[in-house]
Amino acid sequence: MESSIFNCNVIELAKINNRAGNITPIHGLREVPFSIKRVYYLYDVPGGETRGGHAHYDLHQLIVSASGSFDVILDDGKNKKVVNLNRPNYGLYVTPGIWRDLVNFSSGAVLLVLASMPYVESDYIRDYESFLKLKNI
Ligand code: TYD
Repeated sequence: MESSIFNCNVIELAKINNRAGNITPIHGLREVPFSIKRVYYLYDVPGGETRGGHAHYDLHQLIVSASGSFDVILDDGKNKKVVNLNRPNYGLYVTPGIWRDLVNFSSGAVLLVLASMPYVESDYIRDYESFLKLKNI
């Protein structure tokens, strides 16, 4: 399974602002390089809790902090990087084949995900040793 954390980039999104606040629109195949088939959001994460802890075979995602702040730790089996998301007009594009951990949620954080596929449990790799094997490590 080929994929590198160096292909996972932070994308700056439009911010349409006026004195009454901001709007950030996101379209499939425009701001993100996939069509959007699912939207979900994580919220009410208790202090100190971590989420994620898996990779995907085929899923592409854009992860946005709609509110608050958290860190995404990306791992391709060889290299790791930590990306802090804390502004709603930036999104982290995550390719298939990348292990991700979600940590350091601020209180009230809302993690918005735009995803390229519906939820399919068989697309998950939840065991780190199996992940490393798939990456030939
Ligand atoms: P999971 O993706 O493991 O959570 P996270 O990466 O945020 O820690 O999902 C947790 C549970 O939620 C999983 O057992 C199935 C369910 N779930 C759905 O039913 N639909 C979805 O779109 C998602 C993302 C999760």
